[in-house]
Amino acid sequence: MDNYKRTLVTCALPYANGPIHIGHLAGAYVPGDIYVRYLRLRGEDVVFICGSDEHGVPITIKAREQGVSPQDIVDKYHRVMKDAFTGLGINFDIYSRTSSKVHDAHASEFFRRLYDSDDFITKESEQLYDPEAGMFLTDRLIEGTCPRCGNPKAYGDQCEKCGSTLSPEELIDPHSKLSGAVPEKRKTKHWYLPLDRYEPWLREWILERHKEWKTNVYGQCKSWLDLGLQPRAVTRDLDWGVPVPVEGAEGKVLYVWFDAPIGYISNTKELLPESWETWWKSPDTRLVHFIGKDNIVFHCIVFPSMLKAHGEYILPDNVPSNEFLNLEGDKLSTSKGWAVWVHEFLQDFPGEEDVLRYVLTANAPETKDNDFTWKDLQQRNNSELVAIFGNFVNRAVVLTGKYFGGKVPGNLKPEPVDAETLASIVPLKESLEKNLDTFHFREALKDAMSIARIGNKYISDSEPWSVAKTDMDRTASILYTCLQICADLAIAFEPFTPFAAEKLRSILRVGLDAGFDHRAGEGVKPADFGVKGTPGENFYAPGESRALHTRPFVILSEAEKTLTLKWSSLATSELLPPGHELGESTLLFRKIEDAEIDAQLAKLKAIEEARKAKEAAAAAAEAARKVEPAKSEITFDDFSRMDIRTATVLAAERVPKTDKLLKLTINTGLDERTIVSGIAEYYSPEEMVGKQICILANLAPRTIRGIESKGMILMAKQGDGKLRLISPVEVVTNGSVVG
Ligand code: 2FM
Ligand code: ZN
Repeated sequence: MDNYKRTLVTCALPYANGPIHIGHLAGAYVPGDIYVRYLRLRGEDVVFICGSDEHGVPITIKAREQGVSPQDIVDKYHRVMKDAFTGLGINFDIYSRTSSKVHDAHASEFFRRLYDSDDFITKESEQLYDPEAGMFLTDRLIEGTCPRCGNPKAYGDQCEKCGSTLSPEELIDPHSKLSGAVPEKRKTKHWYLPLDRYEPWLREWILERHKEWKTNVYGQCKSWLDLGLQPRAVTRDLDWGVPVPVEGAEGKVLYVWFDAPIGYISNTKELLPESWETWWKSPDTRLVHFIGKDNIVFHCIVFPSMLKAHGEYILPDNVPSNEFLNLEGDKLSTSKGWAVWVHEFLQDFPGEEDVLRYVLTANAPETKDNDFTWKDLQQRNNSELVAIFGNFVNRAVVLTGKYFGGKVPGNLKPEPVDAETLASIVPLKESLEKNLDTFHFREALKDAMSIARIGNKYISDSEPWSVAKTDMDRTASILYTCLQICADLAIAFEPFTPFAAEKLRSILRVGLDAGFDHRAGEGVKPADFGVKGTPGENFYAPGESRALHTRPFVILSEAEKTLTLKWSSLATSELLPPGHELGESTLLFRKIEDAEIDAQLAKLKAIEEARKAKEAAAAAAEAARKVEPAKSEITFDDFSRMDIRTATVLAAERVPKTDKLLKLTINTGLDERTIVSGIAEYYSPEEMVGKQICILANLAPRTIRGIESKGMILMAKQGDGKLRLISPVEVVTNGSVVG
């Protein structure tokens, strides 16, 4: 890191077709935010870039399903996602959108440059076209029956029922999801990025020069490269996206995975119109992409090839990616609603943002997929955040209030254990740095928590409440030591639980040099906020640890400036001098009760039940549609031997001790007779009386449950086994011959 002057951190631009859930957070956003906060604390110059990914087919499908425009969809989710990030303290310098004017122009220009320098190849191919909707169909817009399992709703690229990968040609009865029309093949031309040209370079760049990338990332890159790279289409026949800016490309847009990563550059340009090039073109800048594992190939192979082809931009130095997070044992799924949505969490647990951040980090899927459970959240909150971190701080501050009027005590009577305790934090700081520098946030959080454990054990073992009965100087030393540890915690937890860290700093009445936030940086002058100074000094809103240009700034008082903590102050001996007055004591965390967890579990259960009911209804509807295979041919004579007649039900009753049988008395026009029929599951006796039906009158009598049954009632049997009566559409004379 030492050779760099600045770090550009990006988090994957999430698709604006649904809200943010815990899986997104755990994959890219919480780790990205931890890293940025850490770098800023260390005084590094950082910009933190994100925004909504607003193009792509799924957004157009969702819009169509909901009968609204794609713009309506992205407008809605852009706001929901932006608020979710802000609510969790994930403060990007910019959270823009790929539908912005800056992006449109920049993505076009990027494509144009590659086009002009012959970096693309074109291919003409036959693709499926919907003649009624007047457009080409992507694989997801083609539906048909799966040739492997018979699922009538398989997509052109995959059957979600049996998991088979398919091509549209393999589907039985393929039809367009848009109009139902049978697709026809038409020729279309597309631009391709010949990834094969970059393969030797990529092999060297990743496999030789980036062996330090996380094993999961490196491993995925290696298998892609070992399989051999193929040219990849970067344009699509679609009307939603950035239009392809060349002649002969009418009705075509850039493929979403071509334009989205360019969004990182456009969003930086929008944030820093004057200096964005320093961030993207200077070899002094270090670029780090935080992403989920499904984005690895795009960020490690495709986007770097695009950047390389362009020639002016820097390449990523690292691409930390997590594996997937599951929820209560099942895969998170936006479409199935199986998720914990961030906006709902913020509503259900106001003021508990840090708990979610903490749990998602403590349980982060860093090396393998991991599971989020509500019980684990409760347990980690109650027995770690509340019982260790919160309890320690509270005891230290409350006792200082009680014995020393809320001032850091002097008149000390040190014992070796005090210095030993403080010294034991030094290796934890080193470990924290090592883990944060190498993106091992789970381990880093353990280090921070170990500092709280040290404090909690120290205060429990030294019992200042008992010592105070006999020795106030010794009590002073114990609490002095505890308060230094509290100050360490206010620094160490800033990247992980920024809200609690900020609360703690206001309890301790200290500032924090949390680095320079570019939202308050270029183009924004302190004078805009009514304060004097130059950007680069630290401007804080009252009680804020970070400079936010949405709120007024004040310059810290001289006294507070001296008590401004820095990352480098962590684990140094005296952070809070004797006589420093503490602020109000408040609890950092609160206990989460069983009832709150039960409510969340009940919510998930309801989601699961609704999903099962929907699946059962869909399965039943599918079964009902199934038609039995045709029977073998018969002669007219065979048919005419059957005496089928109309008849009316005169009386009906259940056959005792059976669920299925009704005893019916019917008028056949020929006679009045009894028929026992297995329809009790579908018709009540009351419903049957008075109905005109059709019967097979000359079926040999049978005795069923001791009742002689003469003939058979004709029924239609659906694919799902359900029986329905066959009745004449109009009332006819009983005994009329059916044939
Ligand atoms: O997986 C996703 O949600 C994509 N929208 C990520 C895009 S990242 C970048 F390239 F913009
Ligand atoms: Zn299938």
